[in-house]
This record gives sequence, C-alpha cells and structure tokens, in this order.
Amino acid sequence: MASLPVRVAMLHPVSDNDPVDEPDHYFTAEPSGDSKPRTVEFELSGRRFELKSSSGVFSSSRLDPGTAALLAKAPFPDPGRTVLDLGCGYGPIALALAELASATVYAVDVNSRALELARHNADMRGLTDRVTVLASDEVPDDLQFDEIWSNPPIRVGKQSLHNLLSHWLPRLRPGGTAWLVVARHKGGDSVITWLNEQGYEAGKYASKKGYRVVRVVRPA
Ligand SMILES: C[S@@+](CC[C@H](N)C(=O)[O-])C[C@H]1O[C@@H](n2cnc3c(N)ncnc32)[C@H](O)[C@@H]1O
Repeated sequence: MASLPVRVAMLHPVSDNDPVDEPDHYFTAEPSGDSKPRTVEFELSGRRFELKSSSGVFSSSRLDPGTAALLAKAPFPDPGRTVLDLGCGYGPIALALAELASATVYAVDVNSRALELARHNADMRGLTDRVTVLASDEVPDDLQFDEIWSNPPIRVGKQSLHNLLSHWLPRLRPGGTAWLVVARHKGGDSVITWLNEQGYEAGKYASKKGYRVVRVVRPA
C-alpha cells in the first residue's frame, strides 16, 4: 500500500457545532425539496478539489470531518487497485482515490441526487475512465474489490448498517481491506466488536478529532 502522507485541508471549514443543512433523510433514494447547488472545496496533498454539491446530500457545504479523517489517515491503495466507495455522496472519496492513487473506483449510493453529483464531479475532473458511479443494484455480481472505502451511513440505524456491511464486505477479495470511518460517540468501537464477531479482522487503525478509522481485513 502506498504510504505517502496525505494532507487534508478544508478550505472553508465549518465547526462541528455550526448548523449544516443536512436533512435527516439525506440517505433516501429521492431527496425531497429543491436541489440548491453548492460547492465543496478542500485540498488533498496540495491538490485543490472544488466539487459540486447540493442540498439533500450528506455534508453538502463542506468536506465532512469524518471523511477528512479517513483520507488523511488511511493509506492510499497501490495504483490500479479496484476500490468500492460505499455511500459515495457527491464523490469526495471516490475522486480522491481515483486522482491521487490512480484507483479504479466503483462509487455507489442510494441517493439519486448524490449519484448525479458524483458523476458530474468525475466528469469535471476528467476521471470518467476511472470512476464508475452506480446505484448499488447495478454493480456487476462477479466484481470483487481489492479495497472498500466508506464513511458509512450511521443514521440508518445499527441494524441497517450491519445489513449494509454484511452485503458489501463479502465482495472484498480474500485478503482485501476495507477502510471505514465512524465517530467514536456514534459506535466507532462497537462496530469493531461486531465486525470481529462476523469473522473479519477489524481494529482501530487511527483516530482523528473523535473519529475512528477502522481497518477491516477479509481473511484470505
Ligand atoms: C456519511 S455519508 C458519506 C457520503 C460521502 N462518502 C462523503 O464522504 O461525503 C453516507 C452515504 O451513504 C449513503 N447510503 C445510505 N444508505 C445506503 C445504502 N443502502 N447503500 C449505499 N449507500 C447508502 C447515503 O446516501 C450517504 O450519501
């Protein structure tokens, strides 16, 4: 795995206590309400990203601090790896991995507005040959992933989160790794216990600002 340190800077940081226009149901298939366009700007390893976002998608006004922690702490995949971005939102993880690690990324989400934005952003950055944005049920059945990266949807509730992870983690190739970020106070430690009970090798890899970056290995 590539081990270059990645510096993440949120160009317009918002404190965790600031009101963020993020409806409780950002993870529904068709967000209600008009789409209010926004831009999220951040810097990764000195490269500036300016991505289109919108109301009705997760963390539409800034790079989510959990996502920033994941991108800063987890080691980027070796070039050319096949990666799933599970719950891609407007695409910050997918685009970072495709652009900075030359990964081939499949980006999935349930939210149709998020999928549209992620497609648009991949297009704007000239990454459509490396980033495929799909609804979950469109991912080819025989595709296996070297890595899965995810800032997973915690607000769906514990059981739905477990169902989601139970569905996708077996799609890792044997020996493959998933990198997840979960806020400590939102179950970052209990998800590790549960993953180990499911037969994965899971553990805290790093912490940043109250977030746990969790490494999950599918046994070979
Ligand atoms: C915490 S957000 C992360 C979004 C984006 N990756 C980011 O870092 O800004 C979780 C995402 O998972 C999506 N999601 C919720 N349920 C899902 C499911 N069953 N399958 C795929 N994505 C889902 C939500 O719509 C949301 O975009």
